[in-house]
Amino acid sequence: MNETIKIIKQRRSTRQFLEKQISEDDLNTIINAGLYAPNGGTDLEKDIYFTIITNKDVLNELNFLAKETARQSPFEWLKELGNNENFNCLYNAPAFIIISVKEQSESAVYDCSALTQNMLLAAESIGLGSCWLYFPLQAFGNDKNEKSAKKLKIPQGFKPITSMVIGYKENNEINVRERKTKNIYYIK
Ligand SMILES: Cc1cc2nc3c(=O)[nH]c(=O)nc-3n(C[C@H](O)[C@H](O)[C@H](O)COP(=O)(O)O)c2cc1C
Repeated sequence: MNETIKIIKQRRSTRQFLEKQISEDDLNTIINAGLYAPNGGTDLEKDIYFTIITNKDVLNELNFLAKETARQSPFEWLKELGNNENFNCLYNAPAFIIISVKEQSESAVYDCSALTQNMLLAAESIGLGSCWLYFPLQAFGNDKNEKSAKKLKIPQGFKPITSMVIGYKENNEINVRERKTKNIYYIK
């Protein structure tokens, strides 16, 4: 199988990580892969801001803040996770990356998504596990937005859009269920 297709199929969300930290070289490789994503108008070199957090105290605080917001959610499943003492929304990963974009960018969500997927695939290709995460971004919800963003030195005018955890997988077994669809229609 072609190497790219192999990595795409092999990448699955990792939620159990070894404590071992990943190198800055690997982090830079992953971030750089993001910059080669397609974009609908966002200048990926200027309008995107990457925050890389490896400090355990900061990671724990973000987990705490996100769960606190989840407990106030109208959605029962979010509330339950917020109340679950055993749930760490960052899965105790050694590194967490927040991708923020300049607020005026119109295609921000699409562009961050394409960039994030590039990064997840890059991580897989160098033997690392990763998981795209919505949950921790709740730390930036409501009135906490400015406070958390300021603390993490996310520049003014930039808004967190996507995030991911990265680290060495606890289990390197490749166990991928085949995915298929019948919803394909050719018009020839
Ligand atoms: C927009 C988005 C938000 C996600 N948020 C979370 C999250 O907060 N927590 C989590 O554990 N996984 C999250 N995921 C990962 C999905 O659960 C996962 O990609 C999906 O179940 C498919 O599994 P796979 O990645 O192994 O193919 C998110 C994925 C996407 C694309």
